[in-house]
Amino acid sequence: MGHGWGGTRGNATRAGLHVLLAAICAAALVSGGESMAGAPYPALNSHERVSSQPETVALPQPLSDALNGPVEVPGGYGMALTAHVGERRVHASWTYVDGVPGLNTHVDSWLLGLLDAAAPVGGRYRPAMALNAQHPEGQEMTVSAAPVQAAGTVIVVRQKVKTSGTGGTVSERSETVYVDTVSGAVRGGAELVRPEAVPGIQSRMVGIPAQIAALVRQDVPVGDLVLKPSGELAVSAEVPGNPGGNVTLTMNAAEAGAVLSDYGRQVLEQLNAAAVPRPAMAPALRHVNCDIVPCAALTYDDGPDAHTTPQLMEILNEANAQATFFMTGSNATANPSTAKEVADAGYAIGNHTYSHGNLTKLSPPAVKKEIERTDAAILAATGTAPTMMRPPYGAADAAVQGAVGKPLMLWAVDSLDWQSKNPAVFVPKVLKEITPGAMVLMHDVQPTTISGQKELIASLQGQGYRLVSVPQLFEGTPLVPGHVYRSRPARP
Ligand code: NI
Repeated sequence: MGHGWGGTRGNATRAGLHVLLAAICAAALVSGGESMAGAPYPALNSHERVSSQPETVALPQPLSDALNGPVEVPGGYGMALTAHVGERRVHASWTYVDGVPGLNTHVDSWLLGLLDAAAPVGGRYRPAMALNAQHPEGQEMTVSAAPVQAAGTVIVVRQKVKTSGTGGTVSERSETVYVDTVSGAVRGGAELVRPEAVPGIQSRMVGIPAQIAALVRQDVPVGDLVLKPSGELAVSAEVPGNPGGNVTLTMNAAEAGAVLSDYGRQVLEQLNAAAVPRPAMAPALRHVNCDIVPCAALTYDDGPDAHTTPQLMEILNEANAQATFFMTGSNATANPSTAKEVADAGYAIGNHTYSHGNLTKLSPPAVKKEIERTDAAILAATGTAPTMMRPPYGAADAAVQGAVGKPLMLWAVDSLDWQSKNPAVFVPKVLKEITPGAMVLMHDVQPTTISGQKELIASLQGQGYRLVSVPQLFEGTPLVPGHVYRSRPARP
C-alpha cells in the first residue's frame, strides 16, 4: 500500500489508465511506431505488429530468413498433432532435439500442462483425443514450441499459445526458454535481464513513461526475450489495447547491454561460440512422448527373411514409420546380413527364442539356453544383443518369466495375419481393435502380411497414429525383466 494504489479507489484509477494505454497504443500502431520518436522517453527501434494469421506447423527456416523465426537445429525434428480436447480443437507443433533431454522433457511437460488444462474439469488429456480430430470450426487453440536461436551450449525455444474463436484471435501469449544443452538446465527468457530493468522495458513496449508503466506492469508479460549474437534483444508481448497482435521491441546492443543480467551476459557469450556437437540417435530410440501423441507399435515376428524383410523395410521407410522385429536366433543365423540391415536402418530388435518352441514345455535351464543362443546370434549379426523378448505363441508362465531374464513384450492386438493370409481380413481386424499405446502382432515372414502393410500403415497414420518402436512406446515407463507387457500404461 506504500505507493497509494491499493483499495477500490486505486482500481478505479487503474481502469481509467487501461483506457488511456489502449488509446496511446492504438495511435502508435496506426502510425507505425515512428510517432514515438519525439516522445520524452527512448524511441523504439521497432514497434511492429506480429501477424495474427493462423499458425501453420513451424517448419525450420534458415536463420537469415526471419528476425525471430524458427531455426534449424542439428538433431532437431518436428512433431505435430490436432486434438479435440474438451470444447476446443487444439493444433500443436513442436520440435525435439536429439541428445538434449532437458529440452524434450521441458517441452513435453509444457504441452501436457496445456492439454490437461484444456480437458474437461476433473479429466486429463488422453492421446485418443488426437485420433480423427478433424472437427468442424469452433474455439481453437494453437500451440507451438520451436527453436529460434541455437549456438554454443544454448538453444532458445519460443513457446506460443494462441486461442481464437469464430470472431478471430482472442489472445496470443508467447515466452522463450533458454536450454543449456550440456547441463539440461532450462531458464525463462525473463532471467536475461535484471529485474529492476523490467518496468523500463514495459514502459517502452506500451509507449508510456516508466513511472506509470511500473504500476501496470502485470499487464505486459516480459517473458518472450530473444537475445541475438549481435547483442540485440527482442522483447515480444501481448500489450493491452493492441487488438489482434503482439508488439515486439528491439533494443540495440548498447541498450540491451545496460539491462542484461549476469545470466544474460553468459548467454550472449554462448551465442557467439561454436555449437557443441551431439551424437546422433538411432531412429528407433529418438524421443517420442506417447502420453501426448497416439502411438502404436507395429511388431513383426519370426524373421529375418532375406526376401520379405527387406520389402517390409522399404515400405516402413517410405512411410516414415518405426517398427520392431522379434527375430528367432535360427533365422538371424541363417540371414545375418538381413538382420544387420534391420539394425543398421535403426529399427528395434527383440529376442524371439532360437527354435520357436513353446517355452512352457521346457525346463528353466532350457528356456535360458533358448534366450542366450538367440542373443548370441543377433549380437553376432548386428553387433548388439536384444534387451527384450517375446515368447513364441505368447506362451509364458511363472517359470518362463523367471527364466528369460528380459521383459516379455506380448501384444494388445493380434492380427492373425498368419491364419487369414489375407490383407482384406487382417487389416480391418487391426484397425478395429487398435487403441493408443498398443503393440500389434504381425509376421514379416508372410508375403501376404507384407502386401497389406502399405494400406494398414496409411490408415493408421491417417487416423493420427504415430508408428513407433517398442522402446519408444514404453519410453519413460520401466520395463522389468520377467514382467509381461501388452501396451503402454495410460498416465494415471
Ligand atoms: Ni513367432
